[in-house]
Amino acid sequence: MKQLSIKVTSNANGQDSSYFLGWEEYEKNPYDEIKNPNGIIQMGLAENQLCFDLIETWLAKNPDAAGLKKDGQSIFKELALFQDYHGLPEFKKALAEFMEEIRGNRVTFDPSKIVLAAGSTSANETLMFCLAEPGDAFLLPTPYYPGFDRDLKWRTGAEIIPIHCSSSNGFQITESALKQAYQQAQKLDLRVKGVLVTNPSNPLGTMLTRREINLLVDFITSKNIHLISDEIYSGTVFGFEQFVSVMDVLKDKKLENSEVSK
Ligand SMILES: Cc1ncc(COP(=O)(O)O)c(C=O)c1O
Repeated sequence: MKQLSIKVTSNANGQDSSYFLGWEEYEKNPYDEIKNPNGIIQMGLAENQLCFDLIETWLAKNPDAAGLKKDGQSIFKELALFQDYHGLPEFKKALAEFMEEIRGNRVTFDPSKIVLAAGSTSANETLMFCLAEPGDAFLLPTPYYPGFDRDLKWRTGAEIIPIHCSSSNGFQITESALKQAYQQAQKLDLRVKGVLVTNPSNPLGTMLTRREINLLVDFITSKNIHLISDEIYSGTVFGFEQFVSVMDVLKDKKLENSEVSK
């Protein structure tokens, strides 16, 4: 049959990895202290349930938000009809302000440069479609969020090459590990298109140091490749250590308005 598009040929379900197989096993036989003490305990999933009481209290105090109202009047029609295709400007402005606030107002974000997506999964997959051709690779520090094997590779045909990090230095990214990963991709005949980091890290819960981010920015600049910094957990940082965003480092290097910061 004549092929109309190479992107519609895969019939894989994107979830054939040991992580998702483990999940399926857990669903068949979930642990319960009384009813199923020999069942499987799910240790591969973390859901932030600690904020539920805060959100429920806030929603109870702000019924307009959940009821699609403004000053008690319905804004349903306003929202349901065509709007700016780039997303609601007020929403993007609020998002930029929130992102600045959780970075201690040290950096700024231009709402016009924000692209909205239905969560990070679709944002990451879209980025892969935009930045990589099938057979191109992204380098990811280990251990990484196992969903990336599905989100980044499944429909895009992109590959992940691990940057091997070790517990001996608290899983920090080193220059030699970066170089090794790059060379590994070349040995496999894969073109490296970029590095993707999660900061703070899932699954480690650790944060990248300024030194590591500097190393990453220098590395991607020297190789002329992309850096994706998935900072979805930047709002859940606690303790004495300060979260350092890639934007902080770009600002230090006076690169925040350059090609590198896009
Ligand atoms: C680092 C990281 N990126 C992206 C995602 C997916 O996020 P979303 O639920 O917004 O699609 C997760 C989910 O666990 C994650 O840990």
